[in-house]
Amino acid sequence: VSGWALYGCRTSYALEVAETIWRRGEDLALLVDNLPADHEAELDGTLAAAGVPLRASAELRDGDFSLDVAVPLITPGHRFALEAEARSFGFASFPALLDPTATLARTARVEDGSILNAAVVVAGAAHLGRFVHVNRSCSVGHHNRIGDFASLGPGCVLAGQVTVGRGAFLGAGAVCAPRVTVGANAIVGAGAVVVGDVPPGAVVVGNPAQLLPGKEGGYGGTRVPE
Ligand SMILES: CC(C)(COP(=O)(O)OP(=O)(O)OC[C@H]1O[C@@H](n2cnc3c(N)ncnc32)[C@H](O)[C@@H]1OP(=O)(O)O)[C@@H](O)C(=O)NCCC(=O)NCCS
Repeated sequence: VSGWALYGCRTSYALEVAETIWRRGEDLALLVDNLPADHEAELDGTLAAAGVPLRASAELRDGDFSLDVAVPLITPGHRFALEAEARSFGFASFPALLDPTATLARTARVEDGSILNAAVVVAGAAHLGRFVHVNRSCSVGHHNRIGDFASLGPGCVLAGQVTVGRGAFLGAGAVCAPRVTVGANAIVGAGAVVVGDVPPGAVVVGNPAQLLPGKEGGYGGTRVPE
């Protein structure tokens, strides 16, 4: 058996990750449904119509576990939980999944489980940890350090030497000035311009980005443990 499984398929973003697999000319061999039948999340209609075999996690077969697995959830805490869940069932291969339209500098490194969507550019000596998610058209600057399970929304622009902590979430179009640090499990709002360090677990919005009082990360009310 060869090809990919999407573990946690009842999220609308699963279609985007499927598109990356198809653009690579590879086989999307299995959708794994890990949610109870009465959960409100629905399988995306376009993905459902693609004819990919769908199996509940409780009904997985031996041959399934040789597939490469991508976890298509953009919420860092959910991605963290589903890696552990997929491993507990017997999946063991979580290679980085890079869209063929993404451009990766020769000196950049991307660890297992990370997903780079279409038109992402990663500059020299950048390091993306495990299970990082980089959405469409992000620009990841030179010498960036992106921590495990961090998510960068569509169109983010990170200048050089930016550090993003484990489990942090940057909304669509967020901008980070050179050398800033976004702390673990922090949230940067859509369109924010980060010009100073963001403390761990903080939520910032606006230009220049400022703390939203009374709000707390991680994104989706779930944190990635240290
Ligand atoms: C920052 C964010 C997480 C806050 O969400 P929230 O906790 O539900 O906050 P609320 O919607 O209650 O907003 C709180 C206040 O912040 C303001 N605010 C929220 N997001 C903002 C943003 N991105 N920029 C500027 N102000 C923002 C709201 O207007 C509101 O202001 P008010 O109190 O004066 O009315 C969310 O607004 C956001 O930007 N999410 C990013 C989503 C995204 O880009 N996803 C990409 C998916 S691929």
